[in-house]
Amino acid sequence: MQSKRARLDRFVSGQTGINRRAVRALLAQQRILVDGAPATEINQVIDEFSHVVLDDRILQANVPRYLMMNKPAGVVSATKDERHKTVIDLLERADRHDLHIVGRLDFNSSGLLLLTNDGRWSRRLTTPENKIAKLYRVTLEKPITEDYVRAFSEGMYFSFEDITTRPAELNIISDYVAEVALMEGRYHQIKRMFGRFDNEVLTLHRMAIGNLSLESSLLPGQSRALTDREVADIGLTSESG
Ligand code: URA
Repeated sequence: MQSKRARLDRFVSGQTGINRRAVRALLAQQRILVDGAPATEINQVIDEFSHVVLDDRILQANVPRYLMMNKPAGVVSATKDERHKTVIDLLERADRHDLHIVGRLDFNSSGLLLLTNDGRWSRRLTTPENKIAKLYRVTLEKPITEDYVRAFSEGMYFSFEDITTRPAELNIISDYVAEVALMEGRYHQIKRMFGRFDNEVLTLHRMAIGNLSLESSLLPGQSRALTDREVADIGLTSESG
């Protein structure tokens, strides 16, 4: 998602139809407030969450929203779908159509799904260079062996995208259950990785993203707002303190 940064004079002009020369006069008269303070610079940059007021008229008052959902299997991670229920359909909030998904889960996958209207936050979480681990619990059709651990950590070449997957950590929990930590989110990545061993994924559940774990009291389909602390801390690594 693009970040919605814009020059203040262009934004005000676009919202009001007042030409940019006249907007400069409004700035000089201190009639435009950004986040409660009079704006004076024509080239001031605002973003989608800047609160912008001209005289008594609010031109923009978006508030950032951050939600966690326990996605049930059998629901599409998309904002719209012709055939199936989407995760947005599960929300009962008036602002649900302003939200986008931070890292999809497949139709049959379940677990922690994040939704927000903050494009900068979601990009930070999904950029592989930021090394924010996504933790999954997977059940398989056939027993898992130690060979898998090395193959996952070495990375696998996907010819379709012409990429090698980043090192992934696999912990064997029992013969048919593993936990996998990925730093990226390629299309059907975990299924394709187990597919190399001809081992079908039967269930796939995301347990955590970075420092944020799915709250155990959230039933499938339920969601809740993240706290300010959760929003700030989710992407902190031990290196970043
Ligand atoms: N990998 C998959 O194959 N599916 C998911 O939903 C998530 C990761």
